[in-house]
Amino acid sequence: MIDRAAAVALDAADPLAAFRDRFHIPDAGVIYLDGNSLGMPPKRTLERLTEVYEKDWATDLIRSWDHWVDLPQRVGNALAPLIGAAPGEVVLHDNTTLNVYQAVHGAIALRPDRRVIAISPDDFPTDRYVVDGIAAATGHTVRHGFDRLDDVAVMVRSVIDYRTAALVDVASETARAHAAGAMVVWDLSHAAGAIEIDLRKCGAQLAIGCTYKYLNGGPGAPAWTFVARELHDTIRQPIWGWFATKDQFAMGPTFQPRADIARMMLGTPSILALVAAECGISLSAEAGMAAIQAKGRKLTQLAIELCDQFGFTTPTPRDPAQRGNHVAIEHSDAKAVVRELSARNVIFDFREPNIVRAGCSPLTTRFVDVFDGVSAIAQAR
Ligand SMILES: Cc1ncc(COP(=O)(O)O)c(C=O)c1O
Repeated sequence: MIDRAAAVALDAADPLAAFRDRFHIPDAGVIYLDGNSLGMPPKRTLERLTEVYEKDWATDLIRSWDHWVDLPQRVGNALAPLIGAAPGEVVLHDNTTLNVYQAVHGAIALRPDRRVIAISPDDFPTDRYVVDGIAAATGHTVRHGFDRLDDVAVMVRSVIDYRTAALVDVASETARAHAAGAMVVWDLSHAAGAIEIDLRKCGAQLAIGCTYKYLNGGPGAPAWTFVARELHDTIRQPIWGWFATKDQFAMGPTFQPRADIARMMLGTPSILALVAAECGISLSAEAGMAAIQAKGRKLTQLAIELCDQFGFTTPTPRDPAQRGNHVAIEHSDAKAVVRELSARNVIFDFREPNIVRAGCSPLTTRFVDVFDGVSAIAQAR
């Protein structure tokens, strides 16, 4: 029997506990288990936004573009070690949806003899919709599932399932796809800043993800694209914008893709959003992905044990090495429960058809939040 005192004791022993003070907590009573949809705001973000507003924008005006222009790559370099990318392999830009679109187009152009795009029918909607849209425009066939990889140009796949938190073995699935001649676009939206992942070691060549979840980059924070260096000369993306061209300010007559990661960019990036993303990413870097993953596993372990205690079923894997940092709690009245608890300042996500999703964000979620949150679901019935 786990009681609240046990959760309090886990918080007292938590090496990452102090990080919570680096975030703005709106109300001491809030129980926030939705950092996997929108991470909490780092206090430093507000200071940095004010600095950039006052000094760069309001004082230096357009001269600030001298150091703003490569900010997408610089923040990409700050993110790179958190996902096992090398410097120069990651750029922050636009949103995940757009980045999936570009990466899938880039991949199918590298496999012109193949006609299939493979994706799970259970993957996050935007990934599926983008794939369907590309197939409708190019004449590719969409295949649901990854058992057969014949004729597959690219497999598009989330590393962590947005509903169950099941974690895919990125290394072995990348190797299997590459052996079959297919490219892979990995979606790390629920993995970046949540678990340790080494894209290079896994042999991954293309990946994308957002920064507004575990990386605490802010609402609508720019997403990112990873392209392994060996593809920098050859990958072609479909939207030819001036930030991706060689010698951008020469204003030349035709688009000449840059030979580096910036060839994935489009137009003028949102500097304030990049500054905010940089603050969130730097907190994860400071804490270290090993410590973040270790705490994430303990938080989700507690959530699963509480599910057992209160008689909830969960499709989330019980092996910590096979799950991300959220737990899906099945409830016949999940939607109403999430709404009712939110009104009482206990914040979860609802996911169709019957899931209360408990996001455990290691820099801000306390063990006691998990205890109080899952207890509140049990009391809400
Ligand atoms: C796996 C995955 N891909 C993509 C997205 C969202 O895409 P976007 O950032 O373009 O809204 C989400 C959002 O939760 C997601 O979980």
